[in-house]
Amino acid sequence: MKPKILVTREVFDEVLEYLSQYFEVTSNQSDGPFDPETLASKLSDKQGAVITLTDRIDPALLARCPNLKAVCNIAVGYNNIDLEACTKAKVMATNTPGVLDDTTGDFTWALILATARRLTEAEAYVRKGEWDGWKLKQFLGLDVHHATLGIFGLGRIGQVVARRAIGFEMKVIYHDVRRAPSEIEQACRASFVNKDEFLGQADIVTIHVPYSPATHHLIGKPELKRMKPTAILINASRGGVVDDAALIEALRSGAIAGAGLDVFENEPKLNPGFLSLKNVVLAPHIASSSRATRLRMAMLAAQNLVAALATGNPPNLLNPF
Ligand code: DGY
Repeated sequence: MKPKILVTREVFDEVLEYLSQYFEVTSNQSDGPFDPETLASKLSDKQGAVITLTDRIDPALLARCPNLKAVCNIAVGYNNIDLEACTKAKVMATNTPGVLDDTTGDFTWALILATARRLTEAEAYVRKGEWDGWKLKQFLGLDVHHATLGIFGLGRIGQVVARRAIGFEMKVIYHDVRRAPSEIEQACRASFVNKDEFLGQADIVTIHVPYSPATHHLIGKPELKRMKPTAILINASRGGVVDDAALIEALRSGAIAGAGLDVFENEPKLNPGFLSLKNVVLAPHIASSSRATRLRMAMLAAQNLVAALATGNPPNLLNPF
């Protein structure tokens, strides 16, 4: 008999076909996220699950799933999974690193350019029929070329963003919990600076760190105050890394010039303060969403699950025990 597994959200047909070769698959192709009770009851007789960042894997859920051996996230970020609780319950957890770096880096650049050059604000103006002719001072923005790009977190995605900056002839500075090896700094043409210098020097601050208690509100009121009033903030990492209320205040008061955001605290219920601001570009957590990349992510999660249940040692295991 094939092991039973759950796919918690809609995935591509080829992923379901692949999984069906190995497992008896129940899948939620209607795509709405399960509430915690439904997730627990659907998972209670399963040995594995392909999950997404909208599924919370916590002690209460694990207690209801005695047969569960592996949860495989379709995401590189895994702050939705309580790893310690998984380890205690002997449930393997995996993620999907590597396959989304370029696509997420590309989208970070989409946010940088759209925010610096006020693209969504200008587009809304054209669509509303308000454009009555060329004006010298219309939608004056920030030059990206030759500006100083500040990357908070020079991991895989931060490095992609840095390498793309070479074409814009930018100065690249970065800050991180630890300094990157010199080969990486050279390939990225990035210089390490302390947090205070970083915030004070960057024209564009872009964040590429995972969310954890240590990075909660990494950018809050004091950090926003330290940034240049002409600077913009970009976040395509995780909601909660930025204090959204403090950011709204900074955007309102002109403490910084703009922000480009793909992620929010409590998403998808974003702080309504963002909606009335013109100097913010808003996107619905789509930085990794090219067809090819989302397929690669889902397929990698499926392959992780196949390996987990077959060998007990899948690639991309987050909690070896
Ligand atoms: C990730 O992989 O963590 C992304 O945020 C998913 O969209």
